[in-house]
Amino acid sequence: MKITAEQELSLIMEMLTQLGVPDEDASIVAEVTLDADLKGFSSHGLGRFPQYIKGISAGNIKPKSEITVEKDNPATALINGNHGFGHVVTYRAMEMAMEKAQKTGIGMVGVHNSNHFGVAGYYSDMAIMEDLIGIVIANTEPAVAPIGGKEPILGTNPLAIGIPSGSHYVSVDMATSASARGKLLEAERRGEMIPENVALDAEGNPTIDPCEALKGSILPFGAHKGYALAFMIEIMAGPLVSASYGKAVTGTANPEVACTKGDLIAAIDPSKFVDMDDFKSEVDDFIAEVKATPNVFIPGDMEVMNVKRHQEEGIPLDDNLAIQLREITSKLGIDAADIIGA
Ligand SMILES: NC(=O)c1ccc[n+]([C@@H]2O[C@H](COP(=O)([O-])OP(=O)(O)OC[C@H]3O[C@@H](n4cnc5c(N)ncnc54)[C@H](O)[C@@H]3O)[C@@H](O)[C@H]2O)c1
Repeated sequence: MKITAEQELSLIMEMLTQLGVPDEDASIVAEVTLDADLKGFSSHGLGRFPQYIKGISAGNIKPKSEITVEKDNPATALINGNHGFGHVVTYRAMEMAMEKAQKTGIGMVGVHNSNHFGVAGYYSDMAIMEDLIGIVIANTEPAVAPIGGKEPILGTNPLAIGIPSGSHYVSVDMATSASARGKLLEAERRGEMIPENVALDAEGNPTIDPCEALKGSILPFGAHKGYALAFMIEIMAGPLVSASYGKAVTGTANPEVACTKGDLIAAIDPSKFVDMDDFKSEVDDFIAEVKATPNVFIPGDMEVMNVKRHQEEGIPLDDNLAIQLREITSKLGIDAADIIGA
């Protein structure tokens, strides 16, 4: 089954409105979720809704997001998300970071007591649209074992960097694990196997079974380098922002417990370093150099191709997700048969 972008937005808005999420917040969650599905990160799109609905029912995601600014300096801030929707809290954090960057050249906002925010790249895109560089990092509940170990201690710790350019969408948005955990959850739901060299079972043996992998650990990307990068992110999105780290991080995949992860959201204004037009033209020049070889892609190309395809052909919705969404909408008294079937 496939749904259109408009149908996805309307389905999410209806569910969130029924759950008491204010319109403005619901529309942020809907836009970020649609962005994930359009870009091909379905592991962080509509497929995460059953988790969010459980989080709201368990009281771990508050439908009304209320942010407290705990520390505020010209270039930095620390905010408490008070357990609101991660999407809304991160959106507001990037707004603050961009405002600071426009004044001082750089803005960095630390976030704690938030929730799973979907795709990191949505928030770095917000910076690109204002001619700023955007950087987003976060820690998550453990999924990755340190090199040499088999017990998960690090999160899948996403990293997104977006760079303004005159000609292209330039964005890297990725987990620091060999695969996002959401892709394992998605494979489990769809009854599919996962690629080789991505995960280990609980005994530390390689596995392509997502159920075994979810009981074991996901490998870091790029061997020791991915581990080292995830280690650093764990700290900059943990102790630096008054959030948990390592095994104490909970609630990013399991909605039954409160979320204790942290985020660090940053914006940089290139015009405080160099002339903005020169900067963009040099970025474009570099892209042209890289793309001079046929079939070479730059970070962001996959997303652009996926958005075009999904806008033209629709967004795939697998049978098991459709069943889960039918159960949710029926409990909420929403008639969505025209979108997800009866
Ligand atoms: N909210 C969370 O806690 C959390 C945690 C982990 C991951 N995530 C999200 O999961 C999503 C998926 O992460 P992933 O690691 O599975 O992504 P991935 O492995 O699909 O990598 C995606 C990135 O690699 C780039 N890329 C792919 N092929 C390329 C090529 N040939 N040349 C140049 N660049 C190329 C893409 O443009 C994209 O930016 C991301 O959106 C991430 O933010 C979120």
